[in-house]
Amino acid sequence: MKFWSSINKGLTPYIPGEQPQDKKYIKLNTNENPYPPSPRVLEAIKSETSADVRLYPDPNAIQLKETLAEYYKTSADCVFVGNGSDEVLAFCFPAFFDPTDTVSFPEITYSFYPIYADLFRISYKTIPMEKDFSFKPGNFPDGMKGILLANPNAPTGIAIGLEAIEDLLQRLPDTLVIVDEAYVDFGAQSAISLVDRYDNLLVIHTFSKSRSMAGLRVGYAIGNSSLIEGLNRVMNSFYSYTLDRIAQKAAIAAIQDWEYTRRICDKVIKTRESVREELTSMGFRVLPSSTNFLFICHEDYAGRELFLELKKGGILVRHFQQPGIENWLRVSIGTDDEMGFFIEKLKTLVV
Ligand SMILES: Cc1ncc(COP(=O)(O)O)c(C=O)c1O
Repeated sequence: MKFWSSINKGLTPYIPGEQPQDKKYIKLNTNENPYPPSPRVLEAIKSETSADVRLYPDPNAIQLKETLAEYYKTSADCVFVGNGSDEVLAFCFPAFFDPTDTVSFPEITYSFYPIYADLFRISYKTIPMEKDFSFKPGNFPDGMKGILLANPNAPTGIAIGLEAIEDLLQRLPDTLVIVDEAYVDFGAQSAISLVDRYDNLLVIHTFSKSRSMAGLRVGYAIGNSSLIEGLNRVMNSFYSYTLDRIAQKAAIAAIQDWEYTRRICDKVIKTRESVREELTSMGFRVLPSSTNFLFICHEDYAGRELFLELKKGGILVRHFQQPGIENWLRVSIGTDDEMGFFIEKLKTLVV
């Protein structure tokens, strides 16, 4: 503590979901994909595993950026890549906001946003949510330097439509709207189609969820070239080799096998919907989800207790000690077998 900076002393760091190393759990706590990455990704990893790892990776990840640019019909200077979308999000703060600025996001959303704001000493205002966890983008105030919008939102799973995002972009042309689409492939519409028309839009994606590559840490942003240059300046003032050689090659292979991604996402969606029905029939309140997880609560059973009992039974889900959602659980969608096991266990707890 003696040598900690005053910023450090004031931080409340993020607590990542457990990655237990002791025993084997059914892991429904960190929204990983239950299916393996595309065989082409695994092949790319193998072929990149050679003595060449003695060489630094391409700091500009140009092949990966070009592959992404081709996929999105844009140019490579409109693409930024980083070590997971968390890193991309983190770089946005020093790239676009000053300590005198204020940013805004919904009161219940991805908990890293206020943490980055605190780390970079940027103040923030949250906008209220309704009882059903919806919020009105019209409530984002004027005068914000930035808005952070997870769409679909996390941990609620609720998506908003593209019209609402476009209204926001038009109403607040001097506010940078950062749309975090970590879960978009599980049922929402991507705002990437709007990037050409709005210079105040940056869209962030990850390979961790729909592409089953959480362990390789790849994220990216698509936006106009001035925003991307801003991110590159920050990255190169911090660390230039954020993506290793293997991750770059694996990500290229994943983009080239979009069909595989679509197929496993559809499987996850199908499982999600059948689990949703089952939970509803057991008396759970289940929010509509456009993601690979469900946000659930039961009025007769405390969220924390259910979390602990499930853990005892070998099933990990996510419970947040955050006011307003203490009674809720976030349950990632696993395979049909894993979800069957989860439901059976839950039936012994909720009677
Ligand atoms: C809304 C949201 N954004 C971003 C991330 C970060 O993903 P990653 O850093 O694995 O790309 C997550 C991870 O769970 C998330 O839920």
